[in-house]
Amino acid sequence: MKSSEIRQQFLDFFESKQHKIVPSAPIVNKDDPTLMFINAGMNQFKDYFLGNKTPDNPRISDTQKCLRVSGKQNDLEEVGIDSYHHTMFEMLGNWSFGDYFKKEAIAWAWELLIDVFKIDKANVYVTVFEGDKSDGLEADMEAVEFWKEWIEEDKILYFDRKDNFWEMGETGPCGPCTEIHVDIRSEAEKAKVPGKDLVNMDHPQVIEIWNLVFIEFNRKADGSLENLPKKNIDTGMGFERLCMVLQGKTSNYDTDVFIPFIKFLEKESGKKYTFDYAHTAKSDIAMRVVADHLRAVAFAITDGQLPSNNGAGYVIRRILRRAVRYYYSFLEVRNPLLHKMLPLLASEFELVFPELKNQLEMVTKVIHGEEQAFLNTLEKGINRFNAIDTSSGAISGKDAFELFDTFGFPIDLTRLMASENGVKVDDKGFDTALAEQQNRGRADAQKSVGDWTELTADPSVEFVGFDHLSVDDAAVVKYRTVKIKKKDQFQIVLNKTPFYAESGGQHGDTGLMFFGEEKVPVLDTQKENDL
Ligand code: ALA
Repeated sequence: MKSSEIRQQFLDFFESKQHKIVPSAPIVNKDDPTLMFINAGMNQFKDYFLGNKTPDNPRISDTQKCLRVSGKQNDLEEVGIDSYHHTMFEMLGNWSFGDYFKKEAIAWAWELLIDVFKIDKANVYVTVFEGDKSDGLEADMEAVEFWKEWIEEDKILYFDRKDNFWEMGETGPCGPCTEIHVDIRSEAEKAKVPGKDLVNMDHPQVIEIWNLVFIEFNRKADGSLENLPKKNIDTGMGFERLCMVLQGKTSNYDTDVFIPFIKFLEKESGKKYTFDYAHTAKSDIAMRVVADHLRAVAFAITDGQLPSNNGAGYVIRRILRRAVRYYYSFLEVRNPLLHKMLPLLASEFELVFPELKNQLEMVTKVIHGEEQAFLNTLEKGINRFNAIDTSSGAISGKDAFELFDTFGFPIDLTRLMASENGVKVDDKGFDTALAEQQNRGRADAQKSVGDWTELTADPSVEFVGFDHLSVDDAAVVKYRTVKIKKKDQFQIVLNKTPFYAESGGQHGDTGLMFFGEEKVPVLDTQKENDL
């Protein structure tokens, strides 16, 4: 079965159980200050659970774009190294807002997996909440009773709140959950170690595919739980993992969700993907990272989060730079690559998330600009990294800060590269150096500089100032805002210019630019700063 058919069957199944099918919410979360990105299907329904709003239909189902790269749910470090974690993934879900509860949620999950998708029930295990003293909660014996209708009692396993009490963040709707795990190992492997011993043990082939959460509580800021007005169901099934199970693969990356991208990368890099997860080659990891990160970055930008220097924008920039460094170092690709994969991504998702196709040009421009900008400093940064004295077993905060400040290396990238070399990073020292710079910045003429906006694909600039004092026609290559003492000014780069730019202690030229009828003064910012 193709992945598109699997997704459709899920939605059709819940439509047949009177669920309203809704579109995915944008992956970028502008409404909820407790969360940067959507990390679960239920996020967009938070107010329905809390009783602040009432849905038109008490049963809803969808596939939701999720990103787990920050906060309570963060899988970034795992991505690429293993075969089943992602930054962006699709979460298939069904919800009941004060309507059906545990009995139906469990019965329908079983019906879909076993009767419709034909998963062999011999390979299925379920987990339930064992209770928690500090929260004053008993074991979820109600869920156990409902499960006993479908599965042998010795395949119902008990786990603590870490695994079986789901919370969307530090605060918010939450509740005990029951998870469905599938053992996809070979028969020989199964004969050696029973599957039940490997549940929740990070085994790549004994994995959780579906989480059914019984949302009954709201976690308050003081850590206490309050009962919600109604009992609700919130389920989430990892679409890519489900495809792995149903397509008989042992890695999410071997399904038709990812293979087109792996093939693309093989062609671009001239390297072969080996499918060998036991002895993974660096180039295999790089292909998985790039195929994964592409989706995260592209859909975040599509949904309104541009890469930038802080907050959610910096998370996206970090993911993008991580991907660039992987293809540069391990696929030996020296030119921007991610943006070339966007037409393929847009067409693969045309029917489910058409928003990418609709904004392909904008997304391509942004990603291309970001890749080029980082590639401009990456090689020098890698050389600098390689020259760092690590005889103490660690990279000093000062060196990590230089990589960050001069070469644009996010600290987690430095950490990753350090760990590849078996050394650590002095995180505290880095934080101190960063804080010192920020303090200097604050004291420094209250100047803030925005990100460059690139307007042309060709970044080259011709300086004609030795021979000419003016040019008749020039285009803006890029610009950025510079706020000096609360006044907005712009720095503009032209493709052809007679203006000598301020550098090396010398003052920049001043003059005029004409945009049609409009006359714009060109100032010497060094002098402006001194005003
Ligand atoms: N909200 C639950 C989860 O993300 C279903 O696992």
